Amino acid sequence: METYADDIENVLIKADEIESKLAEMGEQITRDYEGRHLLLVGVLKGAFVVMADLSRHIRLPLEFDFMAVSSYGAATKTSGVVRILKDLDHDLKDRDVLVVEDIVDSGLTLKYLLKNLAGRKPATLEVAALLRKEGIQQVPLDIRYCGFDIPNEFVVGYGLDFSERYRNLPYIGTLKPSAYGG
Ligand code: IMP
Ligand code: MG
Repeated sequence: METYADDIENVLIKADEIESKLAEMGEQITRDYEGRHLLLVGVLKGAFVVMADLSRHIRLPLEFDFMAVSSYGAATKTSGVVRILKDLDHDLKDRDVLVVEDIVDSGLTLKYLLKNLAGRKPATLEVAALLRKEGIQQVPLDIRYCGFDIPNEFVVGYGLDFSERYRNLPYIGTLKPSAYGG
């Protein structure tokens, strides 16, 4: 049934661990923004799974928007080049904005995005990321809500892809070398 399982080397974070972490993050966000009206900004494509699952643990009036950026193409190393492929539909002025990310790796994508979004004068601007790779951020970033710190390995699943595949895996795992086409 699960056609990708043969390509996975290690499961780093199981589906139920992700689920309970997102529940915790959602509760925290609900407390922190009590009485306010939040705009979630998802960074496509990777964040769509986290966005869907995290948002259902946030007990607040929510609006959703999405931005598409590209940083990697098919490769597994960051290029530092960020392109906006799709911009937001909402005006951010005076809004409480929470950016939802799948993973913060070098941090270059997020740094670029935050600078861009801050220029639109939101009332508040914070970040929720499911994963953060330990110790390799090239720029210090304040991630208000972070799910898991993981080792500096390339991971797939839960929205994260390799060459557009594996996004639908319900857990986070590493790929066998053979899965890279080697
Ligand atoms: P950064 O700019 O290096 O922080 O990378 C940001 C983007 O690269 C993420 O939003 C992902 O789309 C992608 N990325 C970074 N690390 C991984 C990984 O381990 N697996 C899959 N995609 C990744
Ligand atoms: Mg992404």
